[in-house]
Amino acid sequence: MSYVIFFCSCLTAGLAVSSSLRILDKRPDCNQQGLDNCKINNCSDKRTVAQLAPSGPEWDPEHVGVWMDEHGLDSVVNVTWKLKADAGIFKLHGSEINILDENTNQSMCVQFSYNFSQQRNPNDRQWTFSLDGVVVEPGQTYVMTIFNLPEPANGDYRIRKQITIPGCDDRRIQKTQMCLQNGSLWDPHITANVSVDKEHRKLSIVVGFEAAQYSEKYQVSIQSQSFYYSKNISKENETSLNVKFEVGLWQLHECEILLVVQPFFIQCKNDCWCPKKIINNCLYYPPRTLIIKATVGLFLIGCYLIFLLWRASHKDPVIPSSSAAKEQPEGFQVQERKRVLIIYSLDHPLYKNTVLKLCAFLATKCGTEVVLDLLDSTRLGVLGSIQWLDWHREQIERSSGKILVLCSRGVQAKWRAMCGDKQVFLREDARSPIGDMLSPALSLIVPHFIRSASFEKYIVAYFDDVCSEEDIPSPFNITVRYKLMKQFEEIFFRILGTEKHGPGRVNHIEGLSEEEYYHCASGRALRDAIEAFYAYQLEHPQWFEDELLESSELQVEETSAEIYDNAETTTTLITHCVPDSAHILSHVKAQESDFAMDTTGLNMAEEF
Ligand SMILES: *[C@@H]1O[C@H](CO)[C@@H](O)[C@H](O)[C@H]1NC(C)=O
Ligand SMILES: *[C@@H]1O[C@H](CO)[C@@H](O)[C@H](O)[C@H]1NC(C)=O
Ligand SMILES: *[C@@H]1O[C@H](CO)[C@@H](O)[C@H](O)[C@H]1NC(C)=O
Ligand SMILES: *[C@@H]1O[C@H](CO)[C@@H](O)[C@H](O)[C@H]1NC(C)=O
Ligand SMILES: *[C@@H]1O[C@H](CO)[C@@H](O)[C@H](O)[C@H]1NC(C)=O
Ligand SMILES: *[C@@H]1O[C@H](CO)[C@@H](O)[C@H](O)[C@H]1NC(C)=O
Ligand SMILES: *[C@@H]1O[C@H](CO)[C@@H](O)[C@H](O)[C@H]1NC(C)=O
Ligand SMILES: *[C@@H]1O[C@H](CO)[C@@H](O)[C@H](O)[C@H]1NC(C)=O
Ligand SMILES: *[C@@H]1O[C@H](CO)[C@@H](O)[C@H](O)[C@H]1NC(C)=O
Repeated sequence: MSYVIFFCSCLTAGLAVSSSLRILDKRPDCNQQGLDNCKINNCSDKRTVAQLAPSGPEWDPEHVGVWMDEHGLDSVVNVTWKLKADAGIFKLHGSEINILDENTNQSMCVQFSYNFSQQRNPNDRQWTFSLDGVVVEPGQTYVMTIFNLPEPANGDYRIRKQITIPGCDDRRIQKTQMCLQNGSLWDPHITANVSVDKEHRKLSIVVGFEAAQYSEKYQVSIQSQSFYYSKNISKENETSLNVKFEVGLWQLHECEILLVVQPFFIQCKNDCWCPKKIINNCLYYPPRTLIIKATVGLFLIGCYLIFLLWRASHKDPVIPSSSAAKEQPEGFQVQERKRVLIIYSLDHPLYKNTVLKLCAFLATKCGTEVVLDLLDSTRLGVLGSIQWLDWHREQIERSSGKILVLCSRGVQAKWRAMCGDKQVFLREDARSPIGDMLSPALSLIVPHFIRSASFEKYIVAYFDDVCSEEDIPSPFNITVRYKLMKQFEEIFFRILGTEKHGPGRVNHIEGLSEEEYYHCASGRALRDAIEAFYAYQLEHPQWFEDELLESSELQVEETSAEIYDNAETTTTLITHCVPDSAHILSHVKAQESDFAMDTTGLNMAEEF
């Protein structure tokens, strides 16, 4: 709670400096039709009065506009008014505009002198004038008063308006120097690298952020209920800064550490906006209380397991305990390597590359063991596709692994084909030595998926830049469908078997968010792969149709494939595409509707 107060002081702020009211280029623009001349006046001068005074001015509907001057330094306003087109206009000498800064009580007056020969302007509209380039400050309130001269001896024809200039968060003035000096465009990109030094019983946190042009000094702090450390750092001539903190492991009592970077911009000084970030140290090192809880939990679970084993020593020997994983939300470095089987369709060479890059990211950044047909072709060659898939599926079902189904155009098309739609043959499948792995995979996993017991084993996702929600086969409509890379973190929590949203807290893993994942080499390669495919799709809206092979072409591709690959290739390809298999697949379809699918579909699939 101690840091709540700290926040408040960080957020209440304004601009400290206030420069005097002025007009750009020191003089108003007098080059307007009907205008004789105009000049800045002394506001305390006496104004002319007359018994028969002309009527007062009117506001133009768009009477005040705010923008940034052409040099990008100041925010300026433009005031516009109109004159009534009556006979009084010939008695009208001019108008005066008074602008009062409510904060300082300072005011500025500008006098316009007219010389009309007609009631209306040459376009047959009311005479309209404007005062441009009045330099104002963001967030400040001004009162604009306009009156015509001479003024009536009795009464008041003045028009008044109070206007508040928007703050620096307004796009029109965000880039003015004053706003830059208030930190308006600062995007700190805070990163926190946490590592545990078990030997010295320390947690070290390296906080990195981008420095801003107009803030020389920064105060970086980390705090929790039991500690507060802060360090001051000057940016010198660097653009990004790193600050290292070390916290004794014994000081960690709760999971969250609050990280605050306080800048000192020229305008807001000590009261600038402070970006903050919460890091979850329990991902790296669970505090003692949690360890005790987890130990007790594990002990109880262990007892229960022993009891189960004792009771049914011949039945399923291993029951992966997901509750144990929840009790102990340790980081992925501490846990065993999780296995993930990836199911996808070879839609296009660029998509294949994207999938490979995702695997590399999962393996290097997340420490996951990735099972991908392309990377296991030796075993695949020995086992054959169905056995290979089934063997891995079984491994996953037994362990705490997951099956990640990556949906794409090809997945949906192949699923539809399995349900009796037009058959699809993809060029990339024909080129690949292993052929179409997706159709057998779908016929294997869909029955298992639909039996809700194994629901949590399956993660359904798609790259939303290059694929869409419509690419998801309907059996998966009943589960969560993740967008990559937007929701990669959620997927990774699923892989870990923990929850992103725990009771009263949100877990977070550094470097996996959509904005951060490409900061590492494998993530960058993944992003490049996605972008390359995206760009290709933009250029070739018909890309998917182009990838489809006609039956006649199929023969040619098959024969050529046969020439440089072994015969098994074509057999795999053919076995899943011959019309004979259609009845099996319509079987799958029939059962999908009542959700009472048994393993018949699976058995039949094995007969391929
Ligand atoms: C305006 O007039 C007042 C008194 O009439 C005088 O004190 C002041 O200096 C004048 N200001 C300007 C800017 O001329
Ligand atoms: C000020 O406003 C008037 C009327 O809205 C417009 O005609 C004029 O172009 C504006 N001035 C500038 C500098 O944009
Ligand atoms: C401005 O003037 C008004 C009345 O003339 C007064 O009440 C107010 O306190 C003044 N404000 C400042 C900031 O001087
Ligand atoms: C007003 O304009 C007329 C012609 O448009 C000119 O003859 C006259 O001198 C002007 N009056 C003043 C005071 O400038
Ligand atoms: C300057 O920054 C502070 C802190 O973020 C903010 O409260 C204030 O509104 C900003 N000033 C303007 C004019 O936007
Ligand atoms: C954090 O680690 C990543 C990769 O391990 C590295 O790219 C990044 O620069 C590090 N950040 C800091 C602030 O040390
Ligand atoms: C860091 O700077 C702030 C603001 O200037 C100051 O109050 C604080 O004492 C400094 N802290 C350290 C550790 O120097
Ligand atoms: C930063 O300044 C130091 C001296 O103050 C200089 O040695 C160094 O080369 C500068 N670095 C850059 C990137 O300008
Ligand atoms: C599944 O979802 C897709 C897209 O959201 C939709 O087009 C389709 O009709 C749904 N299918 C079923 C069976 O609900």
